Amino acid sequence: MSFPTVRHRRLRASAALRSMVRETVLTVNDFIYPVYVVHGTNIKHEIRSMPGVYHFSLDLLEQEIREIVSLGIKSIILFGIPSSKDAVGSSAYDAEGIVQQATRLIKQWAPELVVVADTCLCQFTDHGHCGIVHQHELTGTAEVDNDESLKLLVKTAVSQAEAGADIIAPSNMMDGFVSAIREGLDEAGYTNVPIMSYSVKYASAYYGPFREAAHSAPQFGDRKTYQMDPANAREALREAESDVLEGADFLMVKPALSYLDIIRTLKDQFDLPLVAYNVSGEYAMVKAAAANGWIDERLITLETLTGMKRAGADLIITYHAKDVARWLQD
Ligand code: PBG
Ligand code: ZN
Repeated sequence: MSFPTVRHRRLRASAALRSMVRETVLTVNDFIYPVYVVHGTNIKHEIRSMPGVYHFSLDLLEQEIREIVSLGIKSIILFGIPSSKDAVGSSAYDAEGIVQQATRLIKQWAPELVVVADTCLCQFTDHGHCGIVHQHELTGTAEVDNDESLKLLVKTAVSQAEAGADIIAPSNMMDGFVSAIREGLDEAGYTNVPIMSYSVKYASAYYGPFREAAHSAPQFGDRKTYQMDPANAREALREAESDVLEGADFLMVKPALSYLDIIRTLKDQFDLPLVAYNVSGEYAMVKAAAANGWIDERLITLETLTGMKRAGADLIITYHAKDVARWLQD
């Protein structure tokens, strides 16, 4: 049998033609921008390893929020640095906690801006773990008290919803955390507040700059007992599936760049909106190389984020969001 020889034209002849057949297009609607808030006044402190990203005290936050909104960014995710820490992370679920205060103010200034609250204890515990932990006497590893931690996470989520958070994003990956938080929100009357679960969160070295920024490095042990092994892909499906069954409204893969295959797999397997977290270490590498003149920051950033979207991300949490929003306007 012989086939006719068909040669397809490569549709690249002009910019107009290329744009007509482009499969993946980044827009400002794709981004969620992380914002760090601290107690005190007159603080706009740049994070050393994350140029262009700052800690803001609440009195200087309004200007930043107005800029984010004016760039067309639709959503932010809030991270708080408390003034005091303890073993049970009390300030995570305090109505006067930094995230709760910031959320109330932001919803006054910009009611349309979608505020995502990161729901975790690690910034608020003196030991820096994501829940209540006991240190194993012999090995020094961190053993999480799952049920005790869940109670405090539910309290945190409810207090964030009370302050006006539009989406609750539990990030500690403990067993049953989505259903526990769903139940807690429903009981408190927040039946319409969605949960964006950090479903697939790897124990990654790419969180380094964040931990410095949020002063949340574990004081003993590591997070390998409750975050995933970077070598595992099928386990990601099991984690995501249990979140779906527990009622998550968004799924997330974190980090993004080394896990594009995981993003694609989740996209193909589940029909919930999928979020990729382009984490601090990924951002820091681009910024450092760009500062040395080794790469073209704009082209590299757009290529990287396009790759994440092409892999299947519907939304991308990224520290690049403000820069990209500006570039997309040009
Ligand atoms: C806390 C949390 C982390 C990040 C977001 N929420 C760090 C961690 O697990 O240590 C990382 C974000 C980033 O690196 O940008 N649970
Ligand atoms: Zn945590």
